[in-house]
Amino acid sequence: MERRKVILDVDTGSDDSIAIITALLCPEAFEVLGITTVNGNRCVDYTTENTLRIVELMGMEDKVPVFRGCASTYVSIMLGRRPGYPRRDGSGPANNAAVHGDFIDQCPPSHHKEQRQNAVSWLVETLLAAEDDSITLIPIGPLTNIAHAVAIEPRIVPKVHEIMFMGGGWKIGNKSAVGEMNVWLDPEAAQVVLNAGFRKFTFVPLDATHEAYFNAADAARIRAIGTPVAEVVASLIEQRITGYSTWQKVAEENATPVHDPLCVVALLDPSVLKEVEHAHCEIDCGGGAAYGQTIFDIRNGRMDALAPNCYVALGADRKKYVDAIVNILARSNEQH
Ligand code: BDR
Ligand code: CA
Repeated sequence: MERRKVILDVDTGSDDSIAIITALLCPEAFEVLGITTVNGNRCVDYTTENTLRIVELMGMEDKVPVFRGCASTYVSIMLGRRPGYPRRDGSGPANNAAVHGDFIDQCPPSHHKEQRQNAVSWLVETLLAAEDDSITLIPIGPLTNIAHAVAIEPRIVPKVHEIMFMGGGWKIGNKSAVGEMNVWLDPEAAQVVLNAGFRKFTFVPLDATHEAYFNAADAARIRAIGTPVAEVVASLIEQRITGYSTWQKVAEENATPVHDPLCVVALLDPSVLKEVEHAHCEIDCGGGAAYGQTIFDIRNGRMDALAPNCYVALGADRKKYVDAIVNILARSNEQH
């Protein structure tokens, strides 16, 4: 497998934490150039602190720089003030609190700091300096940072090999009937990135992540690995199981989707994603009931569907996913 240069764009978060851990445990597959943070699950102050904690857990603070990103939506401060948007006072999406908490309490407060440079300017600088087609972006939070980077400097677009994005939903929403959190929090940013002309943009939506759930037995399997990193991941999954029991139905009782690491595993083994459609997607930015919906033009076998601008995975292989995560975590050792 060719080693990819990757940038993770995160709103850490319980599942973002597991995605970062997974990527950092696969150095033969991923050279993580840096991690950029964004407002999402919680305000960017918190998501940045959480990201620093996870990087320290992995002992990578000297190798993987963290860059603080956008604190508000791409288009409108007013939209960013609507109920459920994460704020600097720490308040955030209420239905999300049990799943993520404010901080990743499984890890101690960080002792190192993020870089001085802002995430957006670092993305522009890094991508501009890169070879064409050489960097894979893994955004697992709202697309605010990447939308700004593209707006400031469209010449970054050809530098990107592909974008593997956790977000969107075909038949499932989690912020509204049709809105998925990462898109709903900044739909205009998602629309900008989707239509910026990137070589390949893949949605890993809720339809895929809800098929690839983890249950209590899976968490126990992870805990049995017996390393501090595995213990953190097992505890995060258990926290999510408790959170989901009062938030959203999962296919099995005592189970939780673990959304974000599915993007990382899909880059290692694309066959973990199922029913991948090449489709046109529009994002509803209208402010009505469908606000933030990812409208994939795959209904009714229409011959006049618009030209595809993305791939979307409508399913996932749960066994492959869980086994992959367990096997990767088994690489963690006492240094981690
Ligand atoms: C997405 O929203 C966040 O809560 C998760 O971290 C994930 O990226 C799921 O809708
Ligand atoms: Ca996330």
